[in-house]
Amino acid sequence: MRVVIQENYEKMCKWAADHIAARIRAHKEDRPFVLGLPTGSSPVGVYKELARQNRGGELSFANVVTFNMDEYLGLPRKHGQSYWTFMHENFFNHLVDMKADNINILNGMAKDPAAECERYEAKILSYGGVDLFLGGIGVDGHLAFNEPFTSLTSRTGVRKLTSDTRIANSRFFGGDPSMVPAEALSVGVGTVFDSKEVLILISGHNKARALAASVEGGVNHKWTCSVLQNHNNAIIACDEEACGELTVDTYKYFLDAERRERL
Ligand code: GLP
Repeated sequence: MRVVIQENYEKMCKWAADHIAARIRAHKEDRPFVLGLPTGSSPVGVYKELARQNRGGELSFANVVTFNMDEYLGLPRKHGQSYWTFMHENFFNHLVDMKADNINILNGMAKDPAAECERYEAKILSYGGVDLFLGGIGVDGHLAFNEPFTSLTSRTGVRKLTSDTRIANSRFFGGDPSMVPAEALSVGVGTVFDSKEVLILISGHNKARALAASVEGGVNHKWTCSVLQNHNNAIIACDEEACGELTVDTYKYFLDAERRERL
């Protein structure tokens, strides 16, 4: 696992966006580039920069297929807090050549949620898997909606949200945790792990414990993000604020190892 530490949120996002853009540009195969995407505040700056490059003609999404990580169960697409709405408002609506048919987001209103998850997992496989999965993590280290103690080999399925996550996400639901859906559809830890490359954004003081557990703790289902220690091509991009719980030697190791990446 690589850990790329940037001075602040803006630089972390710029670095991550440039990294993703370089991967898309370098993709010369006939099949599309398959990009996994998260919601949350962490990726917003990355989306802004990717859209800026796209509008400026530096980066095309014409040959990109996207798969989002998760969606609330029971929220219609057009709901103001659905992840479908979030992704369109924060990203897709700002791209000039993204094809609507290439956007995949789990359907939170599916009559048979389990079947919807199976269909999603199969569709990812039909493209030959995900080339690069961008992600964020929760304060408790959850990856997508894979809360603590979700199997590290889990596939796309229905997940119950913990009280902690509903409290954290209540900021988007008028501050009332009971208004946050109790369940969601989510790609599995195993689904993310099977991607050719994984890039996780970790920013801010409130993620410091999660970053330390993911990097320095053992691989453990309590911190589902820690599974990436076993991935051959995983990068955590983080800011200085998120490094507060790393031991000094770990922090210095990665600053030195990734000094060329520092913006
Ligand atoms: C939600 C999403 C996660 C995301 C997390 C952190 O729970 N399901 O995929 O990583 O929020 O969000 P933020 O980036 O806003 O801290």
